[in-house]
Amino acid sequence: MKREDALQLLQKYVKDDKLVKHCIATGAIMRMLARELGADEEMWEAIGILHDIDYEVVGKDMKRHGKEGEKILLEERVDEEIARVVGRHNHFALEMSIEEYEEPVEIALQCADNLSGLIVACALVKDGKLSEVSVKTIKKKFKEKCFAAGCLRENIKLVEKLNIPLERAFELALEGMLDVKDELELE
Ligand SMILES: [Fe+2]
Repeated sequence: MKREDALQLLQKYVKDDKLVKHCIATGAIMRMLARELGADEEMWEAIGILHDIDYEVVGKDMKRHGKEGEKILLEERVDEEIARVVGRHNHFALEMSIEEYEEPVEIALQCADNLSGLIVACALVKDGKLSEVSVKTIKKKFKEKCFAAGCLRENIKLVEKLNIPLERAFELALEGMLDVKDELELE
């Protein structure tokens, strides 16, 4: 699935600009993690872009989040593999622990989903200048548990299961997000 098609489909269901940006950032990180692992970059980015497609549809009913996204994607005739991964990403609703994820793409999504927010928060303390965020900044902010507390550190750390050291993941994520910084409206 082409990046443009994924983005267009996301915007059919998601109107909140901030959420669209979160999905773009998550997709950008997914692309870089795929590259690092020799996986399908285009597919992993599409998964990142589409993972929260149902967010506005389910509203406050977070138990449906993920599964509803899978349904939408299947109805929209999106690749079943993409739909399946999206359908399984909300471990809270599935009452499973993140440790139970075994497939690299699922582990990568847990990391990217949370790391994207942490890096955006790092850019915001630097006046929206993503170009001024360094791996060192991310490392420091990662350790400050109160900083962007909603970005779950344990989920980010899961990337180590893919034999990607945390610092390398920060480097890749930053590179991926810099590639799309205009779309994220960051400098
Ligand atoms: Fe997300």
